[in-house]
Amino acid sequence: MLSHLLSPLRLGPVELPNRIVSTAHQTTLVSNHLPTDDFVAYHEARARGGTGLIVLEATAPDPTGILTAHELAGYLPEIVAAYHRVGEAARPHGTRLFVQLLHGGREQISGPPRAPALAPSAIPSQRFRVTPRALRAEEIEEIVAGFGHSARLAVEGGLDGIEISGAHSYLVAQFFDPALNRREDEWADPSRFLLEVLRAVRAGAPGLCVGVRLSADSEPAQRIAPLLANEVDYLSLALGESPSYLGSTLIVPPPPLPDDLIVASTEPFRIGLPLIATSRVTDVHAADAIVAAGSADALGMTRALIADPELGRKARDGRTDEIVRCIGCQACIAHYHASEPIRCTVNPATGRERTWTRIDRAHARRRIVVVGAGPAGLAALVDAQAAGHETVLLERADRIGGQQAVAARWPGGVAIAERLLDGYARALAETDVRLETTATAETIAELSPDGVVVATGAVPFAPTLSLEGCAVVQAWDALADPGLAPGTVVVADWGGDPAGIAAAETIRAAGRRVILCVSSVTVGESLHQYRRNLVLQRLYRAEVDVVQHVELSRSDADGIVFRNVFAPERETVFAADTLVLALGRVPVDTVAPELRAAGHAVEEAGDCLSPRSLEEAMLEGAMAARRVSARLSAPS
Ligand SMILES: Cc1cc2nc3c(=O)[nH]c(=O)nc-3n(C[C@H](O)[C@H](O)[C@H](O)COP(=O)(O)O)c2cc1C
Repeated sequence: MLSHLLSPLRLGPVELPNRIVSTAHQTTLVSNHLPTDDFVAYHEARARGGTGLIVLEATAPDPTGILTAHELAGYLPEIVAAYHRVGEAARPHGTRLFVQLLHGGREQISGPPRAPALAPSAIPSQRFRVTPRALRAEEIEEIVAGFGHSARLAVEGGLDGIEISGAHSYLVAQFFDPALNRREDEWADPSRFLLEVLRAVRAGAPGLCVGVRLSADSEPAQRIAPLLANEVDYLSLALGESPSYLGSTLIVPPPPLPDDLIVASTEPFRIGLPLIATSRVTDVHAADAIVAAGSADALGMTRALIADPELGRKARDGRTDEIVRCIGCQACIAHYHASEPIRCTVNPATGRERTWTRIDRAHARRRIVVVGAGPAGLAALVDAQAAGHETVLLERADRIGGQQAVAARWPGGVAIAERLLDGYARALAETDVRLETTATAETIAELSPDGVVVATGAVPFAPTLSLEGCAVVQAWDALADPGLAPGTVVVADWGGDPAGIAAAETIRAAGRRVILCVSSVTVGESLHQYRRNLVLQRLYRAEVDVVQHVELSRSDADGIVFRNVFAPERETVFAADTLVLALGRVPVDTVAPELRAAGHAVEEAGDCLSPRSLEEAMLEGAMAARRVSARLSAPS
């Protein structure tokens, strides 16, 4: 079983114990451009969990190449001791440790004060609105020397290898892309900068493994790859490019982009070097099949490992059904873009490895009742079971999932929702599940619980506006049955959650004309930018009409009236048959007070406390179950 994925792999001077790779990913567990204790604990967890190779995150080889305020600086002398600390934590587990040297060039994500942006040529970059200056020849030499210096420090720090990022249109790729390199000096040669960098790195780190990361969907990268056949020990493939909205989406591709997206792009890079391929491979069986088919020699399973650091060990022990699967919700990359420590929706321990304790088995098995089968309730269920308790789940609706069951009706939400809910099949099988059951003081008392977690979620906000002259339906209901939204449809979307776009897309797919009226600054503002990019792509392709910066005022015989949120005196009137409301949510917050009044010990979690994100709901669900369990274990 999994014999291909779990077999060793030689990358030049280094042998990996298996082919599961945590590719470079910025954790924001960095302070003053050096790893924190949380950083060490984060990677130790993935090493202990059986990861074959960890490539430490993008690390600047020179002060001019800082991409974010939380980027590691590979040129600082202090990095040596830091590498040793990570190595001492990770390498006893057999894991090999590399660092990725990455110079951002004209890509800069950090805020002011930024160093001047430098690039082969002065060509503005769209996504982060960077306007660089063309590098002077002597500056290029200094950067090359910076790679060599950083390589020497990697050797001193005891690392096994160095990866040069030539991916994602960062500096190395900017040099080999003729559209971005318009120089007329000797650095006009597309391969020169990369080859000089490799020469400097080899000279600085003679015994180490050296690889290059490339974006498989980049034509310039496809042209440069054959030149590397005798220069490096391996190639690592990712997808996407930083400067454009659409291209950046592929750097961390979200659903509904398919799993195993990388496989179709590896062929041009089969040049006789070991190949690590990465992008949306989350299933160990799929990873094993990719190696078996020869599309790649090792798999980056980066988000898969963010979600479950024990993936490698569970695979080795034949416990693949226990692997917590990445759902592709993008919380990890959203935290990075918000300059916040890395987190994971399905694994609250991620980024908190030092402080998030394993749940203790309770001294005695008690009965915990969870009210509400949405994500917060399901997260509570799992941790209550982990403590050894009997669980009963009450749900008012006729199905599991809460708002995820609603999101599952939308192309942008179905894959995430299904993967999330699949992950609870085992916990549900061990639970007394009671659907279509309303929790009251009486129904709860009949169950004689030792503890109760209330996670009753939220319902759509119903405005007190005068809405006459058309059919009015909530987005959640229209998602369930697009037939409720006949004729020409106007969707009033406040922009704080994806209900409006989800309804617009779904109703449009049912053949109606849809006008999506959005009051937030951008469409899909609450979604991470990579998911939002795909939403916008689908909305434009489906020819949904989008009107921005308007909020619902009223509707009457003349039509549905919106006012401009910035110039409220300006009104727009739409003649339409149906008005779909997506104006936010309100908590279902009556159950907990009722149960408390009846004397039950109640913990609350998720949207019933105030509607927020999936990540917050699940974190609170887990914490609520832990509080109940701790109370039950406390000496009385
Ligand atoms: C939070 C985060 C930060 C990332 N930072 C880097 C980085 O520093 N360098 C890099 O080459 N790729 C970076 N990536 C891309 C990953 O290495 C990987 O290619 C991507 O997540 C797709 O693979 P996956 O589907 O296995 O997660 C990052 C990804 C995430 C989620």
